[in-house]
Amino acid sequence: MPSIVSVLSGHVADKPPVWIMRQAGRYLPEYRAVREKAGSFLELCYAPDLATEVTLQPIRRFNFDAAILFSDILVVADALGQSVRFEEGEGPRLEPIDLNGLDGLKSDRVVGYLQPVLETVAEVRRRLPSDKALLGFCGAPWTLATYMIAGQGTADQMPARLAAYHMPERFAALIEVLVRVSVDYLVAQLEAGADAVQIFDSWAGILDEEGFRRWAAEPVRRIIIGIRKAVPDAKIIAFAKGAGSRLGAYAQRTEANGVGVDWTVPMADASAMLPAGIASQGNLDPMRLIAGGAALDAGIDSILAATAGRPHIFNLGHGITPDTPIAHIERLVSRVRG
Ligand code: CP3
Repeated sequence: MPSIVSVLSGHVADKPPVWIMRQAGRYLPEYRAVREKAGSFLELCYAPDLATEVTLQPIRRFNFDAAILFSDILVVADALGQSVRFEEGEGPRLEPIDLNGLDGLKSDRVVGYLQPVLETVAEVRRRLPSDKALLGFCGAPWTLATYMIAGQGTADQMPARLAAYHMPERFAALIEVLVRVSVDYLVAQLEAGADAVQIFDSWAGILDEEGFRRWAAEPVRRIIIGIRKAVPDAKIIAFAKGAGSRLGAYAQRTEANGVGVDWTVPMADASAMLPAGIASQGNLDPMRLIAGGAALDAGIDSILAATAGRPHIFNLGHGITPDTPIAHIERLVSRVRG
């Protein structure tokens, strides 16, 4: 059994397994080479041979304990029929959806449309050594909704936050659609060979108390219930970036097997907040990985100390950035493994 699956079952590993969010990406020259050949970013996501290759690249180079499916959270918006493009150097651009026109969303075709991604899952699982985990993923409904409504990344997610206050019923209906298609999509990934799945709620932390409960914790709780109806022993990591002091309640409410912890939460506080059998994952500041040296070593050591004796998966507190030196990642892996 891959060590990450065992940690997500509540076991304490001798040395924590390690992987890195956004580990397949532009900081790797071999990724940039495939990316160039693929044409657009979405074409890369929908080409099973190329997507398999970039999924496996970071495992070959760093021997991480998990591969994460190469895709994007926004393929679900694309599958729903919303126009999605990735502009070079600018990030995603979507045709903003109309909350009064949700009937136009093609929720019934999502899993069929994303068949190439499911083929990638199956092919990676065939090629990956059995002691390595393959992680599938999707975006959480709230984070996905922020992009679908604004049409692009924004600094404060004002369009989605205002829509949730102005039109709570319409907004709830969108979240409902996203819960439903996320269950189908993650179940399909697990059935295709994913060993565990992660739900990315990168913008959960911008919500106030009620919003966090209603738009972040509750939809993820319902996705997890839905997945377990089809796959009772599914292993699920929920990452609510910015959850802060709400992390313990989030873990209890969602009943995830593991929760991501961003770098602003003291890891000792996370360890104290989380139920004993629930794994933590994180939480090195990605800037420490760029800085390297003593800043990197000290950051790693304090996370290892604060998570000793509990189920933990070593990771960054958010995704790796393109300017990260490769030698620093090698140093991270060898230090975590002692
Ligand atoms: O290696 C992995 O982690 C697997 C692949 C993965 C990507 N995106 C590939 C990608 C995963 C898990 C994601 C998740 C994702 N995508 C999130 C949630 C996690 C997070 O980082 O907050 C979000 C919010 C997105 C949406 C998204 N995709 C944005 C905002 C951008 C532009 C910013 C950027 O980094 O360029 C993307 C593009 C994207 N997704 C790239 C990659 C490798 C870069 C595009 C390219 O290579 O041309």
